[in-house]
Amino acid sequence: MKRSMLNMLALSACTVAFNAHAQKFDGLAATPQMGWNSWNTFACDINEKLIRDTADAMVKNGLKDAGYEYVNIDDCWHGKRDEKGVIQADPERFPSGMKALADYVHGKGLKIGIYSDAGATTCGGHPGSRGHEYQDAQTYAAWGIDYIKYDWCDTKGLNPVGAYTTMRDAIRAAGRPMLFSMCEWGDSKPWEWAKDVGHSWRTTGDIYLCFDCEFSEASYSRWGVLQILDKQAGLRVHSGPGHWNDMDMLEVGRGLTEDEDRSHFAAWAMLASPLILGNDVRKMSDATKRILTNKEVIAINQDKLGIQAWRFMQAGRLEYWAKPLDKGEWAVMILNRSEQAMPVSYQWTNHRVNDDMSKRVLDTTKTVYTWTDAWTGKTGDTSKKLESKLAPHGAIVLRLKARS
Ligand code: GLA
Repeated sequence: MKRSMLNMLALSACTVAFNAHAQKFDGLAATPQMGWNSWNTFACDINEKLIRDTADAMVKNGLKDAGYEYVNIDDCWHGKRDEKGVIQADPERFPSGMKALADYVHGKGLKIGIYSDAGATTCGGHPGSRGHEYQDAQTYAAWGIDYIKYDWCDTKGLNPVGAYTTMRDAIRAAGRPMLFSMCEWGDSKPWEWAKDVGHSWRTTGDIYLCFDCEFSEASYSRWGVLQILDKQAGLRVHSGPGHWNDMDMLEVGRGLTEDEDRSHFAAWAMLASPLILGNDVRKMSDATKRILTNKEVIAINQDKLGIQAWRFMQAGRLEYWAKPLDKGEWAVMILNRSEQAMPVSYQWTNHRVNDDMSKRVLDTTKTVYTWTDAWTGKTGDTSKKLESKLAPHGAIVLRLKARS
């Protein structure tokens, strides 16, 4: 055998052996991850005080107790790479350094996330990880980072499977369990290939602060709540424990109406999306706090089966969504897409709701279910017609349990 062939064989054996160990860390995001991210409110205007104050606020205002765990720094934390290529935090915005900041956040019983990009530069023009993947993963691990959001700017000519797999392998090699949140905007249908690569993947371009609109930038669009919801059609088969369809960070508490905020939060919960807050949690209205800490809605999102809801019926501008839950329970959301208040009159027993994917049936003709309204606590059962009125862009969310 020629030496070059021997070399090739040795190399491929080596690759196989290496890849056999290069898996994403299991056990992270068994339910959709919950936390906060700096981008929606602060964009590049971030510093270590903001991150510390946010962690403090999350402990004080009940967000931590409600399940929000990660404090995530998005773009623009970066300084330069040093002479060895090691990335540094911006010395002016983060003078104490990332290790100290991670220690602080951990000291509050929370976890910390950071942001990078598969290209040479991030979307904000800072150093990306291209060509530095192993080095950056090692640096983040040494700082004590728990979560990496990995963006897709400046990637012309890059293969997304290769780029994201390289970073996954780098995280594994760095040896610290770090949740890998892929932010590739759904361009290459990551739901089809990334189950073993990331713990979640963005399914769309960026969210925009509106309930029902498309906001066009020069070469791409940003999307309102309903637009993002519609783009999830057909994706539920790809989502589950450890690998979630990510509908982007929440806009709750940033200027939508209270009904819109509730519907937005409920939709993300029903579709088992990661719940990453995008508001300024240091100053929240009571209404925003009530929405974001609603135990019932969060429990629907965090249900351990991790089955994403689907739209089982549409009647004019009203939509009906169902999510099978653990122990034979169900969540049902009725959403009013219109800008007018709409009456709801739903005869449960006229509808047999059949989920082909999970092989579960919500059969109110055979079983009477009691329901609890997740927002109001009101109760009822499926033997009686549901009569209600939905506010413009409002949604009702019910949890159903078979009556024993
Ligand atoms: C992209 C991402 C956003 C945010 C910005 C930061 O647009 O999709 O979520 O991280 O970059 O520059």
